[in-house]
Amino acid sequence: MEEQGALRLIEAAKEARLNAYAPYSGFAVGAALLGEDGRIYRGCNVENAVYPVGVCAERSALAHAVQSGCRRYAGIAVVADADDVCVPCGMCRQALSEFGSHIKVIMANLRGDVHTLTLGELLPQAFDAGYLTKG
Ligand code: THU
Repeated sequence: MEEQGALRLIEAAKEARLNAYAPYSGFAVGAALLGEDGRIYRGCNVENAVYPVGVCAERSALAHAVQSGCRRYAGIAVVADADDVCVPCGMCRQALSEFGSHIKVIMANLRGDVHTLTLGELLPQAFDAGYLTKG
């Protein structure tokens, strides 16, 4: 993905972040997943009074894309208001890795810091469907 594409994805993640529902942590996160269909699927964190029920921005974006019929992705941007760039949690790394270790993960904050790694770099030796087939 070229520089311009990454910046566009970060802007979309910032927009999505504005809709975050995070009354418990106060930590609003936005994500934007770029489909190979050229569309951008946005997500934000949605928390819950039963804390573990809450969902992260990345998995919210992934659900948005899958329910829209898109399963192939070039990259995802994640943005929060943090001192460092916002990294995806382990559960989101696993959820995204289902769709390929090639996915670029563009991690950013509101101060303009950006760091990009592939999913394979963020989650090496991921558990995948191959482990579920015996013999
Ligand atoms: N969160 C995300 O949505 N994405 C991340 O990459 C890190 C954490 C959310 C989960 C929870 O709603 C809040 O941020 C604090 O952990």
